[in-house]
Amino acid sequence: MDYTLDKANNYIKLNSKNTIEEYRQTYHVMAPVGWINDPNGFIQYKNEYHLFYQYHPYSTQHGPMHWGHVKSDDMISWEHLPVALAPDTEFDKDGCFSGSAIEVNDTLYLMYTGNIQHEDFDKNRQIQCIATSKDGVHFEKIQENPVLTEQDLPDNAVVQDFRDPKVFEKNGVYYTVIASQTKTETGQIVLYESSDMINWQFKSVLLEGTAEQGVMWECPDLFELDGKDVLILSPIRITKKGNNFHNISSCVVFIGEVDWETGEFTVDSMNEIDHGMDFYAPQTTSDNMGRRIMVAWMQMWNRPMITDIENHGWAGCMTLPRELRIENDRLIQKPIREIGHYETETLTLENLTLVNESKELEDINGEIFALHLNLDLEFAEKFEISLRKNTVEETTITYCKKNAELTFDRTRSGFEIIGKEDVPVLSRKVECQLVDNQLQLDIYVDKSSIEVFAQDGKETFTSTIYPLNKAEGISFTSVGTTLINKLEKSAINQNVKIHEGKEKDLGVGI
Ligand code: FRU
Repeated sequence: MDYTLDKANNYIKLNSKNTIEEYRQTYHVMAPVGWINDPNGFIQYKNEYHLFYQYHPYSTQHGPMHWGHVKSDDMISWEHLPVALAPDTEFDKDGCFSGSAIEVNDTLYLMYTGNIQHEDFDKNRQIQCIATSKDGVHFEKIQENPVLTEQDLPDNAVVQDFRDPKVFEKNGVYYTVIASQTKTETGQIVLYESSDMINWQFKSVLLEGTAEQGVMWECPDLFELDGKDVLILSPIRITKKGNNFHNISSCVVFIGEVDWETGEFTVDSMNEIDHGMDFYAPQTTSDNMGRRIMVAWMQMWNRPMITDIENHGWAGCMTLPRELRIENDRLIQKPIREIGHYETETLTLENLTLVNESKELEDINGEIFALHLNLDLEFAEKFEISLRKNTVEETTITYCKKNAELTFDRTRSGFEIIGKEDVPVLSRKVECQLVDNQLQLDIYVDKSSIEVFAQDGKETFTSTIYPLNKAEGISFTSVGTTLINKLEKSAINQNVKIHEGKEKDLGVGI
């Protein structure tokens, strides 16, 4: 095999100093060098949060996948660890694809997809494998691999698309949900069970998609939250509907109930998780504070990646981790409270009225910050925030009261990002109802991303931006009368470990 852990770790050591800083994030997980996609193996293990990710260190494009690895006490400052998995066996020779983690008797288990490619498409296979670790750093692939193969698929499934196992335990039984494509080109999630994590039996098709719900589903996650069963997955080519599913790949949350006798999921509601341009393959974990936390890849398939095209030596990062809740069959997402510890130099303004005017507020500028806004829009028609603004660029967030719609627009953000969608997606909208005429917005801006949480996390927009010029300010425009009840703007302390690691020693053993 060409790929080994040593080769990857040496390459990273030698090349991570050569990345171009311009768009490097300051409080989002990135690889030291190279390409990343999906979050994998998200878990709190021995009191530390571990996050793995789909990783191709050798270029800024997808390639034979490794698993990169970071750990953290608070999910904001991350420390790089050595690469956890390399495609170095016959079972995963063309990539250790996405998967998940579970702790069993102090041992950390990773369950992932071995990707096997062939010149003849019919011979391509995706099979499920396991690697274990006692120290949470060094992993060994088990001798019993693969633990699930095409033989374990139901008759309606194609053998080439069977991936992304998410493992969990319930009442002493281990389960894993895996994405599968049916012979009629729809997505489905298959459920397996095991008593020992090694021997797995097919239990059921948990949920099968309709033709409108995409040609394949990826990266399932199933968990209980607030008395409901929640199934998250990432469909490819789900049909556009109103403001929903405008990207070629989308993320969806099904809320309902699993019948554990039959292994079938009854759906009460189904919604798109995020209405931005760069949110994909989310994965969740639970922690010892009883939280359910989700993190996603902050990029999107079928769009040009600017840091790849511009040869910056890195591509892709993760979203801020978000704490989840279910309210009225809707998923609520809030940035984890730990980010608050990094918000400094807070400037607060209260009771500011804007009447048919635009205002650039002094001292409210910058490139890395959090902005918390509470607005009273009773007498407003429209309110717009222009971020990362200079004479030629801006990114806007606009509320239009007539349609009760919030819009995120990156048309003038900098580099133009037009993907393979039928109609270029440069802005997106979401319906967002005011509560007592009020709109709450929590906005997190990093070097090359903006995450917007509206109405305490009922709606979110997550997108990357690549400005070409320095940010000069932030402006607020009101059509009609807007009362800014409260505005808080904080710098986000950039001195996070992920950067220190880069300058200093790049973490344990690399
Ligand atoms: C989702 C995905 C997964 C797969 C991985 C490969 O983004 O396509 O289905 O396991 O990426 O890197």
